Amino acid sequence: MMKKMLLLLVAICFVGSMSSQQDINLVVNTKKLGAPIQPTMYGLFFEDINFGADGGLYAELIKNRSFEFPQSLMGWKTFGKVEVRTDGAPFERNPHYVRLSYSGHAHKHTGLENEGFRGIGLKKDNTYRFSVWARTVQQNKPEKIRIELIDADNNPIEYKELEITTSGWKQYEVILASPRNEANASLRIFLRSEGPVDLEHISLFPTDTWKGRKNGLRKDLVEALNELNPGLFRFPGGCIIEGTDLETRYDWKKSVGPVENRPLNENRWHYTFTNRFFPDYFQTYGMGFYELFLLAEDMGAEPLPVVNVGLACQYQNDGEHCHVPVGELDDYIQDALDLIEFANGDITTEWGKVRAEMGHPKPFNMKFIGIGNEQWGPEFTIRLEKFMEAIRAKYPEIKIIGSSGPQAEGKEFEYLWPEMKRLKVDLVDEHYYRPPQWFLDNATRYDNYDRKGPKVFAGEYASHHKNRKNNFESALTEASFMTGLERNADVVHMATYAPLLAHVDAWQWRPDLIWFDNLRMVRTPNYYVQKLYATYAGTNVLPLTWNQTPLTGQEGLYGSAVIDTNKKEIIVKLTNVSQENHKIVVSLEGMKKKMQLRPEVETILLKGENDEENTLDKPDTIVPVSSFEILSGTKLSVDVKPYSFNLFVIGYTD
Ligand code: AHR
Repeated sequence: MMKKMLLLLVAICFVGSMSSQQDINLVVNTKKLGAPIQPTMYGLFFEDINFGADGGLYAELIKNRSFEFPQSLMGWKTFGKVEVRTDGAPFERNPHYVRLSYSGHAHKHTGLENEGFRGIGLKKDNTYRFSVWARTVQQNKPEKIRIELIDADNNPIEYKELEITTSGWKQYEVILASPRNEANASLRIFLRSEGPVDLEHISLFPTDTWKGRKNGLRKDLVEALNELNPGLFRFPGGCIIEGTDLETRYDWKKSVGPVENRPLNENRWHYTFTNRFFPDYFQTYGMGFYELFLLAEDMGAEPLPVVNVGLACQYQNDGEHCHVPVGELDDYIQDALDLIEFANGDITTEWGKVRAEMGHPKPFNMKFIGIGNEQWGPEFTIRLEKFMEAIRAKYPEIKIIGSSGPQAEGKEFEYLWPEMKRLKVDLVDEHYYRPPQWFLDNATRYDNYDRKGPKVFAGEYASHHKNRKNNFESALTEASFMTGLERNADVVHMATYAPLLAHVDAWQWRPDLIWFDNLRMVRTPNYYVQKLYATYAGTNVLPLTWNQTPLTGQEGLYGSAVIDTNKKEIIVKLTNVSQENHKIVVSLEGMKKKMQLRPEVETILLKGENDEENTLDKPDTIVPVSSFEILSGTKLSVDVKPYSFNLFVIGYTD
């Protein structure tokens, strides 16, 4: 009896293992090219959140450089005799400056120190451009100041002296070098003559910015963005375009022209979360719309600016009285029209001239505009309609992006989609920050979307694990969901992960695509998912099926396929969210006679433990790894490991 039972058990185990070993036969049909993948399909969404602009991408190292924070000396320590003044200021929209005067004793000193954004990061052997607007107070009496870089232990790293020669405001510049890495430096300036001397717009930039530009961007961060091959660049928000109130909304017109005269704005992430207050979070607009258009151009991405629709953040403002009355929207609508002129107008137009004077006579060739961010209700649609009438009348070629509100489903969403169709917006911006399981369940989200209505812009999304980490599980579920974006590329034209950037010591929101401190940055697993999708975006969808149905979670597998007719590649993307190793056979069917497959197939694997993440100290824990497989005729047999994202790149000639 015992023997019989044992045999039965062995037989059951054998059959069990046979079935888990059975091949899964996927078919990619190459006969007919599917929907084109839009060049805008995989893009970036940039917002000044988590110190993403000032203190992040914008390479300025001095916080409160123009003394315009409500507490004029926030970020500064002063010693001796320092006064904040406004009389005779050089920049009308930034009226504060400091006067350094004789301390009253030859052995006492007058000066000030800036703490930077959670410290100033200096890199070994790099140089830094210090600049200041200054004047002497007494005619014909030059003054001297010393400028020092100070390390975290209060030792000078490097100093230079500067002579202020005239009583008229003038910009002065010196270059300082750093012989070593220092993550937490500060800048000290003090009088070396009797004074007084007046100082305004005190600035320190690395000379090695992205493309070496003055008023430039942090090179390592832009390089990481550029590597993502974005086809689209949405900016400047997000909630910051709405503002906590209309006063603090992002106003693009304040963000262009000479940088010294761009006024300060309070950043709404300053106090959005009561458990994470950031009283020193302001926007200098130093990286303004000109710089953002330029960045889009550098990366080869379509710029997608978003403007305020006359509504302050609806989460934080209850009632019509908080918003612009519908009958008084003209200035806001004009701002949108002027923005298009700023981007595209020739240099004889008012705003085209501003762009040209900033250094870009050629138009930026903007094609899209977002009207409003996460808005909802009739208060949104009534205003959007007015914007649309004006934009369609003057710029019919510009594509307008509306919104389905802050939720991925529910009352507001149900109200807004039909409204967006009625208004005939070109694209609808959908947002979803949801748990990993939601992303798996929604891999089929777009399979039944209306093909005749506006197209979809998945404008903000991220898989939010309960610990809100950028762990591998969040990345893998996003990759699985994105097979659904790709399969539905006829209706989904744009997708951007959010948020993009976060300072490890100054974040308000997580997870985020890229984390950084003052010297380093780390690409998350989510970053690599975005990069793989964008790099292997393809030109057209190809149907990928298992038993004649799309692969949308059967046996824990999600998949999609594209062809790139330019690079001559067929690309299969597969995720496995199960704990099983799956033996997969991908068969390429319907091939034209002259199409010859290259036998060597590049396979790219992104794999980690579900809770693993990349950190600044261990940035390469989860990175894509390439290897090769050999095709057998038109079939590719591969093992798809548990919890993995896999790409197969099959080259061909025709
Ligand atoms: O990405 C962070 C925020 O999420 C955006 O500002 C807003 O649009 C959304 O609520």
